[in-house]
Amino acid sequence: MIDAWIDAFYRLLNQIGFPDPLHAALVHMPIGLVMGAALFGWLALLPGRERFQITARNCAVLAFLFWFPTALFGYMDWRHFYHGASLNPITMKLLLAGLLLILLAGALFFAFRRPLLARKVTPVIYTLCLITAVLLGWFGARLVYGGKTGAEGKPAYALGEKIFVAHCRECHPGGGNIMEPDEPLVGSDKLQSPETFIALLRQPKAPMPAFPPAALTDADARELYRYITNVLAQSGR
Ligand code: HEC
Repeated sequence: MIDAWIDAFYRLLNQIGFPDPLHAALVHMPIGLVMGAALFGWLALLPGRERFQITARNCAVLAFLFWFPTALFGYMDWRHFYHGASLNPITMKLLLAGLLLILLAGALFFAFRRPLLARKVTPVIYTLCLITAVLLGWFGARLVYGGKTGAEGKPAYALGEKIFVAHCRECHPGGGNIMEPDEPLVGSDKLQSPETFIALLRQPKAPMPAFPPAALTDADARELYRYITNVLAQSGR
């Protein structure tokens, strides 16, 4: 039910020309603001620069507010682009996002309620926030860019590779299968011909999601097939 709403939402975005994950667009807000909070928090320790404490606090308030849409879009992207698959980087991101929220809330508690203590304590908490945010970005990058796909320098397979990265890699990195390691993509007898392959995509065995023609045209599926059989299956990974 929720997934149907989410998919409808992304279809709408697609129609107005925005096919990309939303989280990536918004994530700069909390990260940038946490950087600002840490920077001004430390500057406020300089003599005569106490008022930077307010700047730091304002940054932290905004970072706190932007946490919510950023996390929400992250969740929606995960349901939509990753079909809700349980992946290690996702688990880490959930834990770190929770930690970031707690740290920000803690910093704001000091900043508003204990102003005298705040000048000494908050720069440390803001810095912990920054470290957490950097780790969040690191796991995000692993999710998006991790796992080489093998078509570097083989432009004939670039389109197939792109389709693979967008639709298959999260569950089949390197041609394997993270959900059911005994059922790797590479080596499947469904790769015998483009026809058997396309038939599988239209009606796979759960929990693999189906790819109807609306999600992946026959022409795209053939490009994908060429990439899988000529590059991925040959790379020995
Ligand atoms: C959400 C995770 C997920 C995604 C995304 C996914 N798969 Fe799968 N795939 C699986 C699982 C789980 C299986 C094992 C299913 C089973 O029990 O046969 C599987 C099996 C396969 C098999 C072997 C089937 C067989 O019966 O031998 C092939 C081939 C395959 N997937 C291709 C793809 C391609 C191509 C894509 C991208 C268009 C893709 N998969 C996307 C999870 C996924």
